[in-house]
Amino acid sequence: MASRAHIFLQIFFLSALATTAFSLSPDYYANICPEALPTIKKVVEAAVYKERRMGASLLRLHFHDCFVNGCDASNLLDPTPTIDSEKTAVANNNSARGFEVIDQIKAAVDEVCGGPVVSCADILAVAARDSVVALGGPSWEVLLGRRDSTTANRTLANLDIPSPFMDLPALINNFKNQGLNEKDLVALSGGHTIGFAQCRTFRQRIYNASNIDPVFAEERQATCPRTGGDTNLSPLDPTPALFDTAYFNNLVKQRGLLISDQALFNGSSTDYLVKIYTLYPEAFWYDFARSIIKMGNIKPLTGNQGQIRLNCRMVNY
Ligand code: HEM
Repeated sequence: MASRAHIFLQIFFLSALATTAFSLSPDYYANICPEALPTIKKVVEAAVYKERRMGASLLRLHFHDCFVNGCDASNLLDPTPTIDSEKTAVANNNSARGFEVIDQIKAAVDEVCGGPVVSCADILAVAARDSVVALGGPSWEVLLGRRDSTTANRTLANLDIPSPFMDLPALINNFKNQGLNEKDLVALSGGHTIGFAQCRTFRQRIYNASNIDPVFAEERQATCPRTGGDTNLSPLDPTPALFDTAYFNNLVKQRGLLISDQALFNGSSTDYLVKIYTLYPEAFWYDFARSIIKMGNIKPLTGNQGQIRLNCRMVNY
Protein backbone atom coordinates (compact mmCIF):
# COMPACT_ATOMS: atom_id res chain seq x y z
CA MET A 1 0.00 0.00 0.00
CA ALA A 2 2.80 2.35 1.00
CA SER A 3 4.44 1.85 -2.34
CA ARG A 4 1.20 2.66 -4.18
CA ALA A 5 0.93 5.95 -2.29
CA HIS A 6 4.58 6.56 -3.05
CA ILE A 7 4.07 5.96 -6.75
CA PHE A 8 1.01 8.22 -6.72
CA LEU A 9 3.01 11.01 -5.08
CA GLN A 10 5.82 10.55 -7.55
CA ILE A 11 3.44 10.82 -10.49
CA PHE A 12 1.84 13.88 -8.91
CA PHE A 13 5.16 15.69 -8.46
CA LEU A 14 6.46 14.66 -11.86
CA SER A 15 3.38 15.97 -13.63
CA ALA A 16 3.48 19.18 -11.55
CA LEU A 17 7.12 19.57 -12.56
CA ALA A 18 6.28 18.89 -16.19
CA THR A 19 3.64 21.62 -16.28
CA THR A 20 5.81 24.17 -14.49
CA ALA A 21 8.98 23.30 -16.39
CA PHE A 22 7.30 23.45 -19.78
CA SER A 23 4.75 26.22 -19.42
CA LEU A 24 5.42 29.72 -20.66
CA SER A 25 6.70 32.35 -18.24
CA PRO A 26 7.26 36.12 -18.39
CA ASP A 27 10.76 35.70 -16.91
CA TYR A 28 11.94 33.07 -19.35
CA TYR A 29 14.82 35.21 -20.69
CA ALA A 30 15.60 37.04 -17.41
CA ASN A 31 18.72 34.96 -16.80
CA ILE A 32 19.41 33.57 -20.27
CA CYS A 33 19.49 36.99 -21.92
CA PRO A 34 18.20 39.99 -19.93
CA GLU A 35 18.80 42.31 -22.91
CA ALA A 36 16.54 40.32 -25.25
CA LEU A 37 13.26 42.17 -24.59
CA PRO A 38 14.68 45.72 -24.61
CA THR A 39 16.44 44.87 -27.88
CA ILE A 40 13.21 43.67 -29.54
CA LYS A 41 11.46 46.84 -28.37
CA LYS A 42 14.17 49.07 -29.85
CA VAL A 43 14.00 47.46 -33.29
CA VAL A 44 10.17 47.51 -33.31
CA GLU A 45 10.10 51.18 -32.29
CA ALA A 46 12.56 52.10 -35.05
CA ALA A 47 10.54 50.15 -37.64
CA VAL A 48 7.23 51.73 -36.55
CA TYR A 49 8.85 55.17 -36.52
CA LYS A 50 9.96 54.60 -40.11
CA GLU A 51 6.54 53.31 -41.20
CA ARG A 52 3.54 53.39 -38.83
CA ARG A 53 1.81 50.58 -40.70
CA MET A 54 4.58 48.18 -39.71
CA GLY A 55 3.08 47.97 -36.21
CA ALA A 56 -0.12 46.59 -37.72
CA SER A 57 1.73 44.17 -39.95
CA LEU A 58 3.74 42.76 -37.03
CA LEU A 59 0.63 42.30 -34.88
CA ARG A 60 -1.01 40.38 -37.72
CA LEU A 61 2.02 38.08 -38.11
CA HIS A 62 1.63 36.88 -34.50
CA PHE A 63 -2.07 36.16 -35.12
CA HIS A 64 -1.38 34.26 -38.34
CA ASP A 65 1.31 32.27 -36.56
CA CYS A 66 -0.84 31.23 -33.59
CA PHE A 67 -3.89 30.21 -35.66
CA VAL A 68 -1.95 27.63 -37.69
CA ASN A 69 -0.93 24.77 -35.43
CA GLY A 70 -0.03 27.04 -32.51
CA CYS A 71 2.43 29.87 -31.91
CA ASP A 72 5.56 28.27 -33.33
CA ALA A 73 6.71 30.74 -36.02
CA SER A 74 5.63 28.29 -38.73
CA ASN A 75 4.43 31.25 -40.83
CA LEU A 76 7.98 32.63 -41.11
CA LEU A 77 9.39 29.63 -43.00
CA ASP A 78 10.23 30.21 -46.67
CA PRO A 79 9.24 27.56 -49.24
CA THR A 80 11.70 24.71 -49.91
CA PRO A 81 11.15 21.23 -51.38
CA THR A 82 10.34 20.05 -47.83
CA ILE A 83 8.66 23.15 -46.39
CA ASP A 84 5.03 23.69 -47.37
CA SER A 85 5.29 27.43 -46.77
CA GLU A 86 2.32 29.22 -45.25
CA LYS A 87 3.50 32.41 -46.96
CA THR A 88 1.58 31.44 -50.10
CA ALA A 89 -1.66 30.55 -48.28
CA VAL A 90 -4.60 32.71 -49.37
CA ALA A 91 -4.57 35.00 -46.31
CA ASN A 92 -0.80 35.57 -46.47
CA ASN A 93 0.04 35.68 -50.16
CA ASN A 94 0.94 39.26 -51.20
CA SER A 95 -0.53 40.33 -47.89
CA ALA A 96 1.46 39.24 -44.81
CA ARG A 97 4.38 41.62 -44.35
CA GLY A 98 7.04 42.55 -41.84
CA PHE A 99 9.34 39.55 -42.40
CA GLU A 100 12.38 41.81 -42.88
CA VAL A 101 11.75 43.45 -39.52
CA ILE A 102 11.59 40.02 -37.86
CA ASP A 103 14.95 39.22 -39.53
CA GLN A 104 16.40 42.44 -38.13
CA ILE A 105 15.10 41.68 -34.65
CA LYS A 106 16.50 38.15 -34.79
CA ALA A 107 19.95 39.41 -35.84
CA ALA A 108 19.97 42.08 -33.12
CA VAL A 109 18.80 39.69 -30.40
CA ASP A 110 21.24 36.93 -31.36
CA GLU A 111 24.05 39.45 -31.24
CA VAL A 112 23.15 40.91 -27.85
CA CYS A 113 22.51 37.43 -26.39
CA GLY A 114 25.77 36.04 -27.80
CA GLY A 115 23.94 33.29 -29.70
CA PRO A 116 20.55 31.98 -30.82
CA VAL A 117 18.64 31.61 -27.55
CA VAL A 118 15.47 33.55 -28.36
CA SER A 119 12.91 31.74 -30.51
CA CYS A 120 11.27 33.33 -33.55
CA ALA A 121 7.86 32.48 -32.05
CA ASP A 122 8.70 34.53 -28.93
CA ILE A 123 10.01 37.35 -31.12
CA LEU A 124 6.61 37.45 -32.88
CA ALA A 125 4.74 37.58 -29.56
CA VAL A 126 6.92 40.36 -28.12
CA ALA A 127 6.97 42.35 -31.38
CA ALA A 128 3.14 42.24 -31.42
CA ARG A 129 2.99 43.71 -27.91
CA ASP A 130 5.63 46.35 -28.63
CA SER A 131 3.83 47.33 -31.85
CA VAL A 132 0.53 47.85 -30.05
CA VAL A 133 2.28 49.95 -27.40
CA ALA A 134 4.12 51.98 -30.07
CA LEU A 135 0.76 52.88 -31.64
CA GLY A 136 -0.69 54.02 -28.31
CA GLY A 137 -2.39 50.81 -27.19
CA PRO A 138 -2.31 48.73 -24.00
CA SER A 139 0.69 46.82 -22.72
CA TRP A 140 0.79 43.32 -21.23
CA GLU A 141 3.31 40.88 -19.87
CA VAL A 142 4.21 38.48 -22.68
CA LEU A 143 4.56 34.85 -21.65
CA LEU A 144 7.73 33.35 -23.12
CA GLY A 145 9.58 30.12 -23.73
CA ARG A 146 8.04 29.04 -27.03
CA ARG A 147 10.20 27.10 -29.44
CA ASP A 148 10.13 27.10 -33.24
CA SER A 149 8.55 24.53 -35.52
CA THR A 150 10.48 22.44 -38.02
CA THR A 151 7.50 22.33 -40.37
CA ALA A 152 4.87 24.55 -41.95
CA ASN A 153 1.43 23.70 -43.28
CA ARG A 154 -0.12 25.69 -46.10
CA THR A 155 -3.26 23.56 -46.21
CA LEU A 156 -3.91 24.18 -42.53
CA ALA A 157 -3.24 27.91 -42.99
CA ASN A 158 -5.96 27.95 -45.66
CA LEU A 159 -8.33 26.14 -43.34
CA ASP A 160 -7.64 27.89 -40.04
CA ILE A 161 -6.96 31.57 -40.79
CA PRO A 162 -10.41 33.19 -40.89
CA SER A 163 -11.64 34.71 -44.14
CA PRO A 164 -12.93 38.31 -44.42
CA PHE A 165 -16.10 36.91 -46.03
CA MET A 166 -17.18 34.94 -42.96
CA ASP A 167 -20.44 35.61 -41.12
CA LEU A 168 -20.71 35.62 -37.32
CA PRO A 169 -21.43 31.90 -36.79
CA ALA A 170 -18.44 31.01 -38.99
CA LEU A 171 -16.17 33.41 -37.10
CA ILE A 172 -17.35 32.12 -33.73
CA ASN A 173 -16.70 28.56 -34.87
CA ASN A 174 -13.28 29.45 -36.28
CA PHE A 175 -12.20 30.99 -32.96
CA LYS A 176 -13.77 28.15 -30.96
CA ASN A 177 -11.56 25.70 -32.86
CA GLN A 178 -8.61 27.58 -31.34
CA GLY A 179 -10.05 27.49 -27.82
CA LEU A 180 -11.15 31.13 -28.07
CA ASN A 181 -14.62 32.38 -27.19
CA GLU A 182 -16.91 35.16 -28.46
CA LYS A 183 -15.31 37.77 -26.23
CA ASP A 184 -11.87 36.82 -27.56
CA LEU A 185 -13.27 37.13 -31.09
CA VAL A 186 -14.61 40.65 -30.57
CA ALA A 187 -11.65 41.89 -28.53
CA LEU A 188 -9.03 40.47 -30.91
CA SER A 189 -10.89 41.72 -33.99
CA GLY A 190 -10.22 45.11 -32.39
CA GLY A 191 -6.74 44.56 -33.82
CA HIS A 192 -8.34 46.10 -36.90
CA THR A 193 -8.11 49.45 -35.13
CA ILE A 194 -4.73 49.62 -36.89
CA GLY A 195 -3.60 48.90 -40.41
CA PHE A 196 -4.95 48.54 -43.92
CA ALA A 197 -6.79 46.13 -46.20
CA GLN A 198 -6.64 45.59 -49.96
CA CYS A 199 -9.62 46.26 -52.22
CA ARG A 200 -9.98 42.56 -53.09
CA THR A 201 -10.82 41.80 -49.44
CA PHE A 202 -13.71 44.30 -49.13
CA ARG A 203 -14.98 44.89 -52.69
CA GLN A 204 -17.88 42.48 -52.29
CA ARG A 205 -19.07 44.37 -49.20
CA ILE A 206 -18.86 47.93 -50.52
CA TYR A 207 -20.78 47.06 -53.72
CA ASN A 208 -23.28 44.48 -52.49
CA ALA A 209 -23.93 44.72 -48.74
CA SER A 210 -27.15 46.13 -47.32
CA ASN A 211 -25.77 46.54 -43.77
CA ILE A 212 -23.44 49.36 -44.82
CA ASP A 213 -23.61 53.16 -44.49
CA PRO A 214 -24.11 54.26 -48.14
CA VAL A 215 -21.88 57.33 -47.72
CA PHE A 216 -19.08 55.11 -46.41
CA ALA A 217 -19.60 52.61 -49.25
CA GLU A 218 -19.29 55.39 -51.80
CA GLU A 219 -16.13 56.75 -50.15
CA ARG A 220 -14.48 53.35 -50.29
CA GLN A 221 -15.63 52.74 -53.87
CA ALA A 222 -13.60 55.80 -54.92
CA THR A 223 -10.37 53.84 -54.37
CA CYS A 224 -11.74 50.34 -54.93
CA PRO A 225 -13.31 50.01 -58.40
CA ARG A 226 -15.61 47.15 -59.39
CA THR A 227 -12.85 45.73 -61.56
CA GLY A 228 -9.13 46.25 -61.18
CA GLY A 229 -7.32 47.96 -58.35
CA ASP A 230 -7.27 44.71 -56.36
CA THR A 231 -4.33 45.78 -54.22
CA ASN A 232 -5.47 49.36 -53.55
CA LEU A 233 -5.41 50.01 -49.83
CA SER A 234 -8.04 51.38 -47.46
CA PRO A 235 -7.59 51.92 -43.73
CA LEU A 236 -9.41 49.37 -41.56
CA ASP A 237 -10.71 52.25 -39.45
CA PRO A 238 -10.44 56.07 -39.70
CA THR A 239 -7.29 56.14 -37.51
CA PRO A 240 -5.13 53.28 -38.87
CA ALA A 241 -1.98 54.41 -37.03
CA LEU A 242 -3.64 54.68 -33.62
CA PHE A 243 -4.66 51.85 -31.35
CA ASP A 244 -7.98 53.32 -30.19
CA THR A 245 -11.68 52.40 -30.24
CA ALA A 246 -12.53 54.06 -33.56
CA TYR A 247 -12.90 50.56 -35.05
CA PHE A 248 -15.83 49.81 -32.73
CA ASN A 249 -17.37 53.29 -33.10
CA ASN A 250 -17.34 52.61 -36.81
CA LEU A 251 -19.07 49.23 -36.53
CA VAL A 252 -21.97 50.85 -34.68
CA LYS A 253 -22.31 53.22 -37.67
CA GLN A 254 -22.25 50.33 -40.17
CA ARG A 255 -18.86 51.48 -41.35
CA GLY A 256 -16.97 48.24 -40.84
CA LEU A 257 -14.69 47.62 -43.84
CA LEU A 258 -14.74 43.81 -44.03
CA ILE A 259 -17.81 41.58 -44.01
CA SER A 260 -16.21 39.86 -40.98
CA ASP A 261 -15.88 43.23 -39.18
CA GLN A 262 -19.51 44.27 -39.60
CA ALA A 263 -20.62 40.74 -38.66
CA LEU A 264 -19.66 41.59 -35.07
CA PHE A 265 -22.33 44.28 -34.97
CA ASN A 266 -25.23 43.07 -37.06
CA GLY A 267 -28.10 42.40 -34.66
CA SER A 268 -26.62 39.34 -32.95
CA SER A 269 -25.00 38.07 -29.78
CA THR A 270 -21.80 40.13 -30.03
CA ASP A 271 -23.49 43.54 -30.48
CA TYR A 272 -23.46 44.26 -26.76
CA LEU A 273 -19.67 43.79 -26.53
CA VAL A 274 -19.03 46.13 -29.45
CA LYS A 275 -21.23 48.71 -27.68
CA ILE A 276 -19.33 48.21 -24.41
CA TYR A 277 -16.00 48.84 -26.14
CA THR A 278 -17.33 52.09 -27.69
CA LEU A 279 -18.44 53.26 -24.26
CA TYR A 280 -15.48 52.03 -22.21
CA PRO A 281 -12.15 52.08 -24.07
CA GLU A 282 -10.44 50.69 -20.93
CA ALA A 283 -12.62 47.58 -21.19
CA PHE A 284 -11.34 47.02 -24.73
CA TRP A 285 -7.75 47.50 -23.65
CA TYR A 286 -8.15 45.08 -20.76
CA ASP A 287 -9.94 42.42 -22.81
CA PHE A 288 -7.57 42.77 -25.77
CA ALA A 289 -4.56 42.19 -23.53
CA ARG A 290 -6.21 39.19 -21.86
CA SER A 291 -7.27 37.65 -25.16
CA ILE A 292 -3.94 38.12 -26.89
CA ILE A 293 -2.18 36.39 -24.00
CA LYS A 294 -4.69 33.57 -24.41
CA MET A 295 -4.01 33.47 -28.16
CA GLY A 296 -0.27 33.39 -27.44
CA ASN A 297 -0.80 30.24 -25.39
CA ILE A 298 -2.18 28.23 -28.32
CA LYS A 299 -0.21 24.99 -28.57
CA PRO A 300 3.32 26.31 -27.96
CA LEU A 301 6.29 24.01 -28.45
CA THR A 302 8.26 23.91 -25.19
CA GLY A 303 11.00 21.94 -23.43
CA ASN A 304 12.87 19.92 -26.03
CA GLN A 305 10.16 20.14 -28.70
CA GLY A 306 11.03 21.99 -31.90
CA GLN A 307 14.15 24.13 -32.03
CA ILE A 308 15.49 27.66 -31.68
CA ARG A 309 16.01 28.68 -35.29
CA LEU A 310 19.23 30.36 -36.38
CA ASN A 311 17.33 32.10 -39.16
CA CYS A 312 13.58 32.63 -38.75
CA ARG A 313 13.00 31.80 -42.42
CA MET A 314 14.71 28.39 -42.32
CA VAL A 315 14.75 25.21 -40.29
CA ASN A 316 18.18 24.48 -38.73
CA TYR A 317 20.10 21.70 -40.44
C1 HEM B 1 -11.68 37.80 -36.93
C2 HEM B 1 -11.20 37.36 -38.06
C3 HEM B 1 -10.24 38.14 -38.92
C4 HEM B 1 -10.32 38.27 -40.26
C5 HEM B 1 -11.36 37.65 -41.16
C6 HEM B 1 -9.24 39.13 -40.66
C7 HEM B 1 -8.98 39.49 -41.97
C8 HEM B 1 -8.08 40.47 -42.34
C9 HEM B 1 -7.89 40.95 -43.68
C10 HEM B 1 -8.62 40.43 -44.92
C11 HEM B 1 -6.96 41.93 -43.64
C12 HEM B 1 -6.45 42.74 -44.83
C13 HEM B 1 -5.27 42.02 -45.47
C14 HEM B 1 -4.91 42.56 -46.82
O1 HEM B 1 -5.77 43.15 -47.48
O2 HEM B 1 -3.74 42.41 -47.25
C15 HEM B 1 -6.55 42.08 -42.28
C16 HEM B 1 -5.63 42.98 -41.83
C17 HEM B 1 -5.19 43.06 -40.53
N1 HEM B 1 -5.56 42.21 -39.50
FE1 HEM B 1 -7.06 40.89 -39.52
N2 HEM B 1 -8.54 39.51 -39.57
C18 HEM B 1 -9.10 38.91 -38.47
C19 HEM B 1 -8.66 38.99 -37.18
C20 HEM B 1 -7.53 39.67 -36.78
C21 HEM B 1 -6.92 39.55 -35.49
C22 HEM B 1 -7.39 38.63 -34.39
C23 HEM B 1 -5.85 40.41 -35.49
C24 HEM B 1 -4.87 40.69 -34.39
C25 HEM B 1 -5.13 40.64 -33.13
C26 HEM B 1 -5.81 41.05 -36.77
C27 HEM B 1 -4.93 42.02 -37.14
C28 HEM B 1 -4.90 42.62 -38.38
C29 HEM B 1 -4.10 43.80 -38.67
C30 HEM B 1 -3.29 44.58 -37.67
C31 HEM B 1 -4.28 44.07 -40.03
C32 HEM B 1 -3.61 45.16 -40.87
C33 HEM B 1 -2.28 44.65 -41.37
C34 HEM B 1 -1.47 45.62 -42.21
O3 HEM B 1 -1.85 46.77 -42.39
O4 HEM B 1 -0.39 45.18 -42.69
N3 HEM B 1 -6.83 40.54 -37.54
N4 HEM B 1 -7.24 41.17 -41.50
